[in-house]
Amino acid sequence: MTERTLSIVKPDGVRKNLIGEVIKRFEEAGLKVVALKMTHLTKQQAQGFYHVHRERPFFDSLTSFMSSGPVVLMVLEGEEAIKKVREIMGATNPADAEPGTIRKLFADSIEENIVHGSDSAESARFEIGYFFNALEVFER
Ligand code: CMP
Repeated sequence: MTERTLSIVKPDGVRKNLIGEVIKRFEEAGLKVVALKMTHLTKQQAQGFYHVHRERPFFDSLTSFMSSGPVVLMVLEGEEAIKKVREIMGATNPADAEPGTIRKLFADSIEENIVHGSDSAESARFEIGYFFNALEVFER
């Protein structure tokens, strides 16, 4: 089934000059970039994006990190896009990630883990709509 998912190159990924590296891996897996932008989230915007984690002990630190520098937001489209992106990223904690995945290769910690990808169709819908309006997502 063709799906759409939201991915973010997080502030650590941008600082480490990994924007192209991340997008290249998604494109090589056959996924299409159908929306793309760079922005610097405010703390409040990061809190809104991660609201499902608001009760977690790491919420304040996570949202400070996510608003610490520019990020690259993108919508990816393709067969099983949600699962594919998660496989390419690797486990949330780089220590648990499969060899060759983005997080295993480049992430420093469970929080500063380079890249985000939606974890379900429901989150993808919310996350895409949080950052992009219909005119900013393209048919290709
Ligand atoms: P992400 O896939 O963007 O979803 C939620 C984020 O919270 C996750 O990546 C990490 O950046 C962060 N996170 C998840 N678990 C922890 C944790 N135990 N400690 C700190 N940060 C975490």
